[in-house]
Amino acid sequence: WPVFAGDVEAILDLKRQRNAVILAHNYQTPEIFHCVADIVGDSLALARKAMTVEADVIVLAGVHFMAETAKLLNPDKTVLIPDTQAGCSLADSITAADVRLLRQRYPGVPIVTYVNTSAAVKAESDICCTSGNAKAIVEALGVPQVIMLPDEYLAQNIAAQTAVKIIAWKGHCEVHERFSPADIRQLREDHPGVTVLAHPECPPEVVAEADFSGSTAAMSDYVGQKKPTRVVLMTECSMSDNVAVDHPDVEFIRPCNLCPHMKRTTLGNIREALEQNRHIVSIDPRIAGRARLAVERMLAI
Ligand code: 13P
Ligand code: SF4
Repeated sequence: WPVFAGDVEAILDLKRQRNAVILAHNYQTPEIFHCVADIVGDSLALARKAMTVEADVIVLAGVHFMAETAKLLNPDKTVLIPDTQAGCSLADSITAADVRLLRQRYPGVPIVTYVNTSAAVKAESDICCTSGNAKAIVEALGVPQVIMLPDEYLAQNIAAQTAVKIIAWKGHCEVHERFSPADIRQLREDHPGVTVLAHPECPPEVVAEADFSGSTAAMSDYVGQKKPTRVVLMTECSMSDNVAVDHPDVEFIRPCNLCPHMKRTTLGNIREALEQNRHIVSIDPRIAGRARLAVERMLAI
């Protein structure tokens, strides 16, 4: 605590001075998540809540696509991202030109795009989805076939739960692709009775061996509702740290993988973002309208 106290107090002060709120993803470190964030959640919750923020400034403690989504949904606010290099391997796996080519190749097939993409890619899409609503979005379209971008594993995991045929892209999350079924078998051997929760960005073979798969919010809710004696979250490391604070009676087993992009945000650069009004997120007006429509269509379902 003494290490962080100066930054925490300064950030709380700056938030008041600047009429700012901090939105933090579930993968942010506990000192951000528990000490300075006003709103926390998965990508879907952050998008929904960004839309209703009344403060003048939104600091997005997360990665770039999340900050862009907040700006799309609440364009009159100043949206700040503490480190512009906070990217995402999924967002980097596809460009707007790729989506245009797919549309030519599969005429008439709706394009469902994961929110883990740039605004330019969203602008070429029909509708967005998150890990928390992907199945509902795919089924709400009422068509036999959709294209789902860019996460191959999320697409395969959703395809296993629906009759809708899904055409996938080859993007992967660099954090979740590293988990394997062998990891789960070893965990079950080393920690008898452990409940295994896996994020749907994990390969399908991993999800098949887990006890439950869901978005970061769904995993957190599962722990709160089912209160497993011991649990492992096959996802980014800070997730267990943040959930464990609220559940001291649950034993968290912690093999995990770090997301280098999520870890770029620190108390130090959140403080600098508020002090220096940086880095302001802006979206090319030529794409903003179409990208916003894809996100709004998702939120309407
Ligand atoms: P959630 O939408 O489940 O929070 O996931 C976001 C993400 O980046 C997972 O890697
Ligand atoms: Fe992207 Fe994976 Fe990091 Fe999430 S955990 S931001 S999907 S690289």
